[in-house]
Amino acid sequence: MQALVFDGPRRIRFDPERADPELRAPTDAIVDVEVAGLCGSALHPYLGREPASGGVVPGHEVVGRIGAVGTEVAERRIGDRVLVPFSTSCGRCARCEVGLTARCDRGALFGFGPPGDPAAALDGGQAHRLRVPWADATLRLVPTWMDDATALLCSDNLPTAWEAVARADPRPGHALVVVGLGAVGLCAVAVARAQAAGPVVAIDPVSDRRERAVALGADLALAPADALEEPLLAGGAPAVVEASGSAAGQRLAFTVTAPGGTCSVIAVQTDERFAFSPAEAYDRNLTVRFGRANVLATLPLVLTALTDGRLHSPAEVCVTHREVALRDGPGAYARFAAREPGLVKIAFRP
Ligand SMILES: NC(=O)c1ccc[n+]([C@@H]2O[C@H](COP(=O)([O-])OP(=O)(O)OC[C@H]3O[C@@H](n4cnc5c(N)ncnc54)[C@H](O)[C@@H]3O)[C@@H](O)[C@H]2O)c1
Ligand SMILES: [Zn+2]
Ligand SMILES: [Zn+2]
Repeated sequence: MQALVFDGPRRIRFDPERADPELRAPTDAIVDVEVAGLCGSALHPYLGREPASGGVVPGHEVVGRIGAVGTEVAERRIGDRVLVPFSTSCGRCARCEVGLTARCDRGALFGFGPPGDPAAALDGGQAHRLRVPWADATLRLVPTWMDDATALLCSDNLPTAWEAVARADPRPGHALVVVGLGAVGLCAVAVARAQAAGPVVAIDPVSDRRERAVALGADLALAPADALEEPLLAGGAPAVVEASGSAAGQRLAFTVTAPGGTCSVIAVQTDERFAFSPAEAYDRNLTVRFGRANVLATLPLVLTALTDGRLHSPAEVCVTHREVALRDGPGAYARFAAREPGLVKIAFRP
């Protein structure tokens, strides 16, 4: 099959003859990939910020059709159209049972493996086919009414944004700030509208992304340098989402959080230290929340909000490149990492 392969920082290779994945456990399924997204999380290993093992197929946002199932897969069937969350979950362990599905005892992230441990790596979806462990618990049917780009966002960025906003504890009538307007931050702007916060203030250095935030309902979109002058943010906002992952973005998120407020850090953390000190957090009575989103636990809330009309799909605005061929993958990663104007999310069509 065709696949992309991560060989190390800034080295993505197109492999036209990668071996097809095979069922390894009776609870596995094989998914024929129709769409595979490129997430900001892939930039951490790509830019060398996070160690990862080479030789792995990247990609953890997938929509496709089940092509094969193991003998113990009971609920999912060959031919089902499914979305694949970015990590697997067994559905039975204590963590899965309390909704911490992204921290399943037996779970793994697609498209990623710790360095030096190829056996622990789980190939991702930027390929023709993908092996999915714990298929019954991990895979979700794509609703028949849903378009491909929205389904792709439901495999990661939309539930992630839903959790990010909920963890920020938005207060009715008060501002909610989103720092960083990649696909996650833009989804957070759309979600903030659905979760009935007050004014939504979106911050990013890239002007094209600020315009997209306004299209998704942000009341105000600011460059980082202008945020501190903004009267609406004088005294700070009680609810802030940090979706940039940069030290400067972290610092800004802290600066604009009001005393007693909550800073919801949804960006993946790759640094030893955070951009504010425990003393500063103490002095502001700050609540800070971190962590990987539990896509499986949160997805039902997103689907309900999409169907009852509270949430308008941000797919038109966020998924800017929808038909990228795998052979163009190496260039696509470089363009995404460079934040090329007009490019937010790439969807590969294997
Ligand atoms: N917690 C989870 O489960 C989860 C899931 C998906 C993604 N993520 C993480 O969320 C983060 C965002 O993902 P993405 O796909 O949107 O990434 P992205 O790289 O496309 O977007 C990051 C954005 O932050 C902006 N930015 C950089 N410096 C800034 C600053 N000083 N102030 C304001 N904005 C700044 C960039 O211009 C960019 O638009 C990444 O760290 C990603 O790994 C976490
Ligand atoms: Zn992701
Ligand atoms: Zn589990």
